[in-house]
Amino acid sequence: MSSQTLREARRYEEATGQMIAPEERPAFHLSTRVGWTNDPNGFSYYKGKYHMFYQYHPYAPYWGPMHWGHAVSKDLLHWEYLPAALAPDSPYDRDGCFSGSAVELPDGRQLLMYTGVLSTPQPDGTMREMQTQCLATGDGIDYEKYSGNPVLDAGDLPEGSSKYDFRDPKVWKKEDGTYRCVIGSRPADGSGQILLYSSPDGFQWKFEKVLVENKNRYGLMWECPDFFALDGKQVLLVSPQDMLPEGFEYHNGNGTLCLIGTYDEKTDTFTEEYNQSIDYGIDFYAPQTVLTPDGRRVMIGWMQNWDTCSIHTQNRGVKWFGQMSLPRELSIKNGRLYQKPLRELDDLRRNKISYEDVVFTDTIRLDGIEGRRVDLEIELSAGEEELYKKFAVRFAQNEQYHTAVSFRPAERILKVDRKFSGSRRAVIHQRRCEVNSENGKLKLRLILDRFSVEIFVNDGEKVVSATMFTGQEAKGISFFASGRVKMNVVKYDLTGE
Ligand code: FRU
Repeated sequence: MSSQTLREARRYEEATGQMIAPEERPAFHLSTRVGWTNDPNGFSYYKGKYHMFYQYHPYAPYWGPMHWGHAVSKDLLHWEYLPAALAPDSPYDRDGCFSGSAVELPDGRQLLMYTGVLSTPQPDGTMREMQTQCLATGDGIDYEKYSGNPVLDAGDLPEGSSKYDFRDPKVWKKEDGTYRCVIGSRPADGSGQILLYSSPDGFQWKFEKVLVENKNRYGLMWECPDFFALDGKQVLLVSPQDMLPEGFEYHNGNGTLCLIGTYDEKTDTFTEEYNQSIDYGIDFYAPQTVLTPDGRRVMIGWMQNWDTCSIHTQNRGVKWFGQMSLPRELSIKNGRLYQKPLRELDDLRRNKISYEDVVFTDTIRLDGIEGRRVDLEIELSAGEEELYKKFAVRFAQNEQYHTAVSFRPAERILKVDRKFSGSRRAVIHQRRCEVNSENGKLKLRLILDRFSVEIFVNDGEKVVSATMFTGQEAKGISFFASGRVKMNVVKYDLTGE
């Protein structure tokens, strides 16, 4: 039975979503149907389709009482909106249905596990949001909240952990048919930890152990965990809040962290071996993964940064805010996380144009290379003589605007810069990272989709993502060298339907 709150959201999104013209949104990245989205939720494969739910405030292009929006896709690139799945309409989630995940039950229903938020008065008269874990079951369109909600509350926390920071369950089914989930939590030291819970049936949940402790190493609270096996290793993805920078690896603010290690299933022991950022750009957070029917681990994140949302939401006339990243195929090589654009993206490629051994020493343009929905492969080497000082590719460019990726081979520093993308806000517009390069060699693959760029470095060794809201008429692409650069370029339009 759907509530008045859910029915209203469904009516509203149906009426207003269609007022956003297709060219006002990204073409092959999922964006909110209307209003606001943040984290991807419940990323799953169910009844022959990929399902993506998302943190959703349909009524305005900024964060508000969280609903779950819903979309499905056959290829993760073309999305069809379905009616909103959850609304904050119950005594335990009146103030929000926060992030969570999805799994299929043996009887064919889909189980959603999410965080219910309830504002509760404190002894000093202030209000604080208590967080519990809740369930809903459904058929892929309509979901009913479980009568036993909440299934995990303050009583299920290890001693000293906060009942106000207990969120974002990621559930999976084990081979023996039982369930596990990982949940973000804040222990007494004020930082973050990831808790592991188990269930025989998906409905009765029990605390197992603290899986990983942050101990104030990387930011404070750890949000949105995901935990899975990959290429003989075990991977934990988390999104820490309130990070301090560390070299070129971690930046201030909300970040993404990938812990790679081993997992002993018998004792539920995760042993960390290595950690890194997941994305080195400006806009990426709270990713979730799905296992595809053909065995690929595919990740999608919120392509945004909590600290820079003002760039867009303060533009007049904005009807939507928030888009997801490209689906990225994950693998582990030499102990590091690699990401490649989902291979089906190649099916959208049209109008190939390529240039080989272009040698240049200042700014050049190449005939036929422009556009805002573009797949651009660039291979750099030094000219025959000495190492060049700097290379840059500028895009979303006209006389007034451009966004740029630049590279200095001596320092091996890659930088994305959207200072001149049209933003009027004094927030972060640049980010740098360190990449592998010898003698000026570098491989870049840039994917542009109207309002974003994702840069895959050296076949997925690092990824740098950034949004840009420059008018679509700025579609020039140019290349710049200080010193002598030799370059191969292949460009496709990503317009295939
Ligand atoms: C992360 C997050 C989650 C929470 C959700 C609320 O971006 O803060 O921890 O569930 O957003 O919308």
